[in-house]
Amino acid sequence: MKGLNKKNTKYESLARIKPPFCWLNHTPFVKYLIEEIKPGLVVELGTHSGNSLISILEACQSNNLNTKVYAIDTWLGDNHSKNYSDLIYHDLFSYVKLNYADNCTLLKMTFEEAVASFSDNSIDLLHIDGYHTYDAVKKDFEDYLPKMKTNGIVLFHDILVKDSDFGVHIFWEELSNKYPSFIQDNGTGLGVLLVSESSNDIFDSIRFETDKIKTFSLMGDVLRYKEEINDLNLELKFYQKSRIIKFVKKIRGVFRK
Ligand SMILES: C[S@@+](CC[C@H](N)C(=O)[O-])C[C@H]1O[C@@H](n2cnc3c(N)ncnc32)[C@H](O)[C@@H]1O
Repeated sequence: MKGLNKKNTKYESLARIKPPFCWLNHTPFVKYLIEEIKPGLVVELGTHSGNSLISILEACQSNNLNTKVYAIDTWLGDNHSKNYSDLIYHDLFSYVKLNYADNCTLLKMTFEEAVASFSDNSIDLLHIDGYHTYDAVKKDFEDYLPKMKTNGIVLFHDILVKDSDFGVHIFWEELSNKYPSFIQDNGTGLGVLLVSESSNDIFDSIRFETDKIKTFSLMGDVLRYKEEINDLNLELKFYQKSRIIKFVKKIRGVFRK
């Protein structure tokens, strides 16, 4: 396909990958999106261990953009992502400080508390990946909508998940009737929405390149499943090791008798 070949490793790689891996399906596509729209200000609601954030930061760096990136999270977890250790925040903080100190800020607070940090009509790209109930995602969108530039883009993660009380799919259904939008339908789904009444040339050039989007989806699926397999191999090795240790202890016990 024109413009995509084996040399495009910048899309399908990520220098730092941490579990959970479910966002990796979207890494190549979002890197491409950033290359196309060249955002000046990116805000992320929900960062956790940082796979989405690092994808955004790598794309800005490889395209020599002077983008400011803000990542907001309590880094405490929620009912869906579950509570997690503070080490996750400290590990990400160290990596960002070392590699992206000039353009990335981590705001350890609630989305609601952070909203006042941004001027109206200032955000080019907003990624919403916080708590995934209908009420929570609606509130996140409505709180940050005045901060969006006209023709800014909002990404919604997990629009295809219909388990338990996940409600992003319901909210997406409502929004996608009001705004120009499309979805990347791999993984748990990424909704891409233009904050405008009508579409524009850049947005159309991205959303109607359906073959390109499919290729980026395949690249993302490979990236994610490679990580899942590595992780399983590690677990398997650990399991095998612990069984061997148990076996050796048992044998020693028999010979001591
Ligand atoms: C699904 S995870 C984010 C995943 C991340 N984007 C990735 O690439 O793996 C959701 C995160 O949102 C955070 N969160 C949920 N509701 C929040 C709120 N109201 N304010 C701040 N953080 C919140 C949680 O702490 C959790 O880390």
